[in-house]
Amino acid sequence: MPNTISNPPAIPFGDLRRQYRAIQADINRAIGEVLHGGWFILGERVADFEEAFSRYCGATYGVGVGSGTEALHLALLACGVDPGDEVITVANTCVPTISAISFAGARAVFADTDPITYTIDPSAIEPLITGRTAAILPVHLYGQCADMEPIVEIARRHSLRVIEDCAQAHGASYYGKKAGTMGDAGCFSFYPTKNLGAFGDAGMVVTNDEDIATRVRLLRNHGERQRYYHSIKGFSSRLDEMQAAILLAKLPHLDVWNERRRTIATAYTRGFECSDIVCPVEETGRYHVYHQYVVRVADRDRFRAYLKTYGIGTMIHYPVPIHRQEAYAEHKEAGVHLPRTEEISAQILSLPIYPELENEEVSRVIAACRGAATGDRCSR
Ligand SMILES: Cc1ncc(COP(=O)(O)O)c(C=O)c1O
Repeated sequence: MPNTISNPPAIPFGDLRRQYRAIQADINRAIGEVLHGGWFILGERVADFEEAFSRYCGATYGVGVGSGTEALHLALLACGVDPGDEVITVANTCVPTISAISFAGARAVFADTDPITYTIDPSAIEPLITGRTAAILPVHLYGQCADMEPIVEIARRHSLRVIEDCAQAHGASYYGKKAGTMGDAGCFSFYPTKNLGAFGDAGMVVTNDEDIATRVRLLRNHGERQRYYHSIKGFSSRLDEMQAAILLAKLPHLDVWNERRRTIATAYTRGFECSDIVCPVEETGRYHVYHQYVVRVADRDRFRAYLKTYGIGTMIHYPVPIHRQEAYAEHKEAGVHLPRTEEISAQILSLPIYPELENEEVSRVIAACRGAATGDRCSR
């Protein structure tokens, strides 16, 4: 056991203050301009950020909305997903992916995951397609794109929509195409801890399809086509000027921040060589942006507790897959069994990874993980 009294400071799993301090002047200026401008909802900054972020992704249109969940919900509606329809997705995701499907009145149908990337296994999709299937919703989990080519090919063959959950994948790419531009719509969250995070809730739908963009634009603001004239029934889900201004100030840093995440990920993977820690793998053709660095360890609770004694924060993304959640008991009752998803959820552990993590902290995380690991695969 380490001597906690003489230990160096803790390494939190995340610390948003560090990023703010690094770009404080720009952020304060951006916020000040909004306050002095006196216009807070759907103004110039939202339009500018929609333009800037969609261009960054390589998409024609961007529509700012209230959150990542709302981006998914409104994209599903705009893509014509109707109540009673089925949407094929994964159970190892953050619950909002599934909440959005429920909001649309549709039913999530779960495919098992690829054992290497933990994203949807394309070979598991086709057997799940029925006459009610309307869309496939791959999640670019932890910052790595799902295997989009076969997914898009299956969708085209069966006339299904593809809606990408890009909440964890700002700037990630698949054979040169950025997350969010391979399906019909890409849905981003700017939740504060994301690779590009606001200081509150915010989201965006990006798309190359003008009809989808127009529909999301209407749906986010009560179906209003012109002030007080409503052509469809909609919602109140707008990106506000303050968040847009903050995101505009942060966007120029995104690529550098993603590169720093990748550098930390490489250091971890090298540092864990020969141990029995199973590291994330960047698949061929993919640019992983490491929203999370998720390892697999056999004895997770012990491993986690060991890191805690060194003051190292960890998280589990996610401890209970959706089909085992109380709120979605209908899947368990229907006998849904996803062997790989279930096995993975019992072993995964997310280590600290954010651009502001110091090299010395990265070294300490590696040393502690090596101390917690049991086997040595190289000497076997
Ligand atoms: C995979 C995934 N999908 C959707 C969301 C929903 O985003 P938000 O929290 O902005 O609603 C999140 C983030 O929380 C997420 O991680």
